[in-house]
Amino acid sequence: MKTDKIINEIIKNMTLTEKIGQMTQLPPTIYIHDSEAVIYGALRNLNLDRLQTFNAGSILGIGSPKEMIKLQKLYLDNATHKVPLMFMADVIHGYKTIFPVPIALASSFNFDVARKAARISAKESYLSGIHVVFSPMCDLSRDPRWGRVVEGFGEDVYLTGEMAKAMVEGYTNYGKLGEDSVACCIKHFAGYGAAEGGRDYNTVDLSRLSLYRDYLPAYKKALDAGADLVMTAFNTLDGVPAVINPFLLKDVLRDAWQSKALTIADYDALNQVIEHGAAKDQVEAALKGIKAGLDIEMASSVYMNKLENLVKSNQVFESQIDEIVGRIIELKIKLNLFENPYSGVNPEKEKEVCLSEEHLNYAKESAIESAVLLENNGILPFKQNTKIALVGPFSKSRAFNGPWSWKGKDDVNSSLEEVFQEQLKFVSEKTNFNDFTDDELLQIKNADVCLITLGEEPHLSGEAHSRSDISLPNNQDEFFESIKQIAKKTVVLVFGGRPLLLNRVKKADALMMCWFLGSKSSEAIYDLCMGKANPSGKLPMSFPRNVGQIPIYYNYLNTGRAYTEGSRNPFVSKYLDVENTPLYPFGYGLSYANFKYSDLSLLKNDLTENDSLVISVTITNESNTLGMEAVQLYIRDYVADIVRPVKELKKVKKVLFKPNESKRIEFELNYNDLSYFDSEGKLKLENGDFLIMVGCSSEEYLSLNFNLKK
Ligand code: NOJ
Repeated sequence: MKTDKIINEIIKNMTLTEKIGQMTQLPPTIYIHDSEAVIYGALRNLNLDRLQTFNAGSILGIGSPKEMIKLQKLYLDNATHKVPLMFMADVIHGYKTIFPVPIALASSFNFDVARKAARISAKESYLSGIHVVFSPMCDLSRDPRWGRVVEGFGEDVYLTGEMAKAMVEGYTNYGKLGEDSVACCIKHFAGYGAAEGGRDYNTVDLSRLSLYRDYLPAYKKALDAGADLVMTAFNTLDGVPAVINPFLLKDVLRDAWQSKALTIADYDALNQVIEHGAAKDQVEAALKGIKAGLDIEMASSVYMNKLENLVKSNQVFESQIDEIVGRIIELKIKLNLFENPYSGVNPEKEKEVCLSEEHLNYAKESAIESAVLLENNGILPFKQNTKIALVGPFSKSRAFNGPWSWKGKDDVNSSLEEVFQEQLKFVSEKTNFNDFTDDELLQIKNADVCLITLGEEPHLSGEAHSRSDISLPNNQDEFFESIKQIAKKTVVLVFGGRPLLLNRVKKADALMMCWFLGSKSSEAIYDLCMGKANPSGKLPMSFPRNVGQIPIYYNYLNTGRAYTEGSRNPFVSKYLDVENTPLYPFGYGLSYANFKYSDLSLLKNDLTENDSLVISVTITNESNTLGMEAVQLYIRDYVADIVRPVKELKKVKKVLFKPNESKRIEFELNYNDLSYFDSEGKLKLENGDFLIMVGCSSEEYLSLNFNLKK
């Protein structure tokens, strides 16, 4: 039978109550918990009775494969219909094997790394009974105060979009659902990363131009790559909460993009529109949700309790409910759930596959590619016999999984103390310089180098963890400066989930941004420091000099009074107290190799609709070290109907170079790459001059001009 027919058959046999139930997602604690009191408490909070819960369509966050089996069985034994539950969970950068946090994966500037991390995460999740992951987060952000930058891919449109696309391809195995892969739910639609002041959940006030140009493309790319669901954001857009925003859910998603993806509210968000002041009660919230195009609500019971009456009073058509439930059932069919409600789940195999050697090896490889070397005066890599004093809050820690790693366990990880064992002469977790004894100070002095671990604990970034001050916490700058005065050499490793203010620790002999690199963080850092691996990460977000520079990003618009280096004209766009440039720009990151760019050229000087411009550059590894380079191509559209950014990343290639090897690297650009979105969301391409830049960061490149004549 054809899928449409099967779906119609299933729907025909369901009551209206059962159908509306499919549009609700509940947490597992509402069904199974050690204590009945918890279950009844949760039911009371949601104003639901036990019977209603056996109509819910999906579950949020399941603890283990055994729990999934138990819950699915309980559900099917009690449900009056025969539609199995679908299980969704926050698998963000790994299930049990934890990969670098997304902002770190983005630093790899290697889409294959993100794809493979997602593929492994899917395999582990699938065996534990998860059908849908709430990932990737496609929210571009230009504000490091926002705690959730750790879950995203940074400030750039192209990098965010390509990373998100690669993760969707990895999770779904290019759309092969039901065979060791999972469906994915992209989030948070839309503009969540633009929360005012970087404060989580805060108002978003974006121009349509910025929305179309900067924020929407990544969601679109991830949908085109095969994401089946879209989670709405907590914020308002144009004053309307995203969860009931018809412009986003209808005009953009359904009409302009022609997407059939299921829309799902974020946690309790449909209910929260009342607190927003956008609906007077749950009835109005339900009506606004359904009219705007919200298909599923998460962890609230607005639809379950209010939608039926709205249908019975003819305010909502039952056909609309059928259409939504049809798409929910279609996804359950794609996931094989009707053939086997326990599809995928396998407690024995889960134990064998999760944290397998192969998976952990890849955790290390991806961690190596994700660290970013910011400073190095030649101290790194260390020689094998270097005597190290290891200090700072992370020296004995194993907490490198970072936010959203609920299934990752710290005891799987090693500490830096464990991996550097052979080289260590002294180790201390003390964070106050005055607490060191004379003997300890002597040990720091005597070591060849003091390796100082600094940064934010994992709980300082992530959801609801915004900071107004992004300097290193707990007087770590002073701690560093005191050590620097006595140590022969200092190397600083910074952990954290966001760009931090590194002006003061910049003075170390070497500085590495280590983010949270996951299960094999310490091993990866060891290999990088000892020269067994070569750093190749690049920054996916600008690191500001101070908080007042925020928002700071490389692809800004030129002003009519642009500041140029050395200009004495006071009437230009600048600050009196700080430069315009960031401390470390987007795309920046050092290597132990030395890559020289030369001979940038265009193969031909015209471009038509059906072909591409070919740009090539020679890159030579002028060192005896094997290394990878993330080669970046930017464009500038000099003159257009609307002002265009001074630079826009359009292509990235991560290339491996043998010692002293020279390679010619080619990029192709087509009409699409040279086009731009206007404030109505139309893609436009205009004749005229473009600057094409190819280099190792957004500030260091070779360039040439190209004139487009359509
Ligand atoms: C709230 C978060 O905003 C979202 O990202 C997450 O997927 C859901 N809760 C489910 O846990």
